[in-house]
Amino acid sequence: MPDRFDLPTGFRWGVATAAYQIEGAVAEGGRGPSVWDTFSARPGAIRDGHTGALACDHYHRYPEDIALMKDLGLDGYRFSVAWPRVLPTGSGPVNAAGLAFYDRLVDALLEGGITPLPTLFHWDLPQALEDRGGWLDRDTAYRFAEYATVMADRLGDRVPAWITLNEPFVHTVFGYALGTHAPGRALMFEALPAAHHQLLAHGLAASLLHERGLEVMLSNNLTPVEAASSSPADRAAAAAYDTLHNRLFTDPVLLGRYPDLSVLGVPGDIYGAVHPGDIDLIHAPGLDGLGINYYNPTRVAAPTDPALPFDLVDIPDVPHTAFGWPVVPDALRKLLLHLKDEYGAALPAVTITENGCSVEESIDPDQPRIDFLAAHLDALAQAVAEGIDVRGYYTWSLLDNFEWAEGYHQRFGLVHVDFETQKRTPKASYAWYRDLIAAHRLHHAE
Ligand code: BGC
Repeated sequence: MPDRFDLPTGFRWGVATAAYQIEGAVAEGGRGPSVWDTFSARPGAIRDGHTGALACDHYHRYPEDIALMKDLGLDGYRFSVAWPRVLPTGSGPVNAAGLAFYDRLVDALLEGGITPLPTLFHWDLPQALEDRGGWLDRDTAYRFAEYATVMADRLGDRVPAWITLNEPFVHTVFGYALGTHAPGRALMFEALPAAHHQLLAHGLAASLLHERGLEVMLSNNLTPVEAASSSPADRAAAAAYDTLHNRLFTDPVLLGRYPDLSVLGVPGDIYGAVHPGDIDLIHAPGLDGLGINYYNPTRVAAPTDPALPFDLVDIPDVPHTAFGWPVVPDALRKLLLHLKDEYGAALPAVTITENGCSVEESIDPDQPRIDFLAAHLDALAQAVAEGIDVRGYYTWSLLDNFEWAEGYHQRFGLVHVDFETQKRTPKASYAWYRDLIAAHRLHHAE
């Protein structure tokens, strides 16, 4: 059986983070407010009233964090750019101090031999754009394209590959359909124009990045979907969920068409949001790599609530993370093989742009994380042996950080952060990951 040491030569090892989850300094350096500043201030929105105002104070402590990355021996670092740091009101004048921060970050990474992999949008929309409708407004896609151009023109000489969006599924569903994430809208299926406008933003930005000779990826949260039983009702529900979670965000980009949304009871033009020519704008630029964020599979049953096309149910008899998510490493292999079956030659090279788990703070050493990472990397190596082109793996996350609606409660870091003192302490999983990277390199040098 192939294992993680058999991942290919040149495989890229990394870690991933996101701006609002680590930077802090929300009112410094000319940064404008984002939807997450507004949402975190809403009573009851975030567990224990936490906010990302300080987070890991990475804005000031990035040299220390890059030193930690260097010691890990990373090839790459996936971070996100805070749009409101660069364009405080989402469009219009560029904030020189904001751009200069990412300039310094990129230079420090390169000095450390680490390739920067920026994500342009990881959910922190400038509040000024939300006030004009946010992702429900088509204009936001065009503002995103302008912002992408600003970033590419400033950093494109040093940053070869870019991720446009992080998980448009999660942002649409949690942010606009359920309202459990910023901007806190609870529109149910009428949130779907936000999905289309994000995909349009991706397509417009992808063309502009390609014109500048840069590579483009999109990071989708993908989940293998299984029906709770073989009954036709459960299977139909599973197909509907697969359409919403996976196909809606991948088919237009890879195949140039939306899946059949009638399974969700939604009109094919997503409430009038899809204009003639849009699909081409989304599909034509192509993708140089598909970023996959994988955490767990999803089990689906026929709905008990007639207003919904499915019910999500737990997967029993498997371990669960501190967050309560089922741990099924082989589902990552199955997901990749399924994508190859579905998309064939249209599937570009894959990079795992997030994978990891939260572990209780009191568990030291954090053996559940080591077991999680080891098993998922073994599953990945098996997928590679079965013909999938996987280029790299970015663990979520370098640091314990602001875990959205959970505040500071779910700890995903290889490095422990004491949020009172900002002291960083590498965990056992940090040493394990460092040793794995070194051993993998040695294995391939021999
Ligand atoms: C997101 C991260 C988040 C992680 C764990 C992903 O959906 O991209 O920002 O912290 O999952 O919940």
